[in-house]
Amino acid sequence: MPIIPKILVFAGSLRTGAFSIKTADAAMKELALQGAAVTRVSLGDYPLPLVDQDLEKEKGVPENAQKLARQIASHDGMLIASPEYNASIPPLLKNAIDWVSRVRRDGGRPFKPFDGKVAALCSSSDGNFAGTRGLYHLRAVLMACQVEVITPQCSVARASEAFDEDGQFREERLRHQMETVCRTLMERAAMFSTRIEP
Ligand SMILES: Cc1cc2nc3c(=O)[nH]c(=O)nc-3n(C[C@H](O)[C@H](O)[C@H](O)COP(=O)(O)O)c2cc1C
Repeated sequence: MPIIPKILVFAGSLRTGAFSIKTADAAMKELALQGAAVTRVSLGDYPLPLVDQDLEKEKGVPENAQKLARQIASHDGMLIASPEYNASIPPLLKNAIDWVSRVRRDGGRPFKPFDGKVAALCSSSDGNFAGTRGLYHLRAVLMACQVEVITPQCSVARASEAFDEDGQFREERLRHQMETVCRTLMERAAMFSTRIEP
């Protein structure tokens, strides 16, 4: 029986009306349409202090980082939709990745949540660059965490005009890009499945 890939979807922004939340929602719908088992979360569900090694030494990795790490580990892959801040990764997302990268153990056992995971990246911006510059940095950071990042990505330029009332992309080009991203992610995720059931 073919594996139904489990994909975790989240955005790199908490802003009300965020374009990256709309992009993550569009990805979630496309993944579900293609047959993935999708979990949609918000980084707002895992509030975290700024990474601080003194804090880590004193109190360990925060419980919310541990929870997010378990979520990641229990999926085959993730799709991250992010804005770019100053052509790079927004701090909300970088901080969450950095904390999860500090998780080494769970229930006394060695545990590396990112190991063997596959990721797809999407970006959005109201500008013409569509946030693509930030994805080069995000890609490099995830690769340093041993995540396999797929090549196709979906980047939404002029995002305030890109979605219709139902949250669908107005442009066929973007619908096609998202379809390719989701198909490739699902294929790779099924191929490399390393998920740890909770
Ligand atoms: C600190 C900061 C830096 C930003 N830098 C960029 C940038 O480099 N490129 C860009 O297209 N937009 C930039 N923006 C604008 C964001 O793309 C815009 O606020 C976007 O709507 C945020 O993403 P969201 O809609 O997913 O929340 C920046 C915004 C902030 C707050």
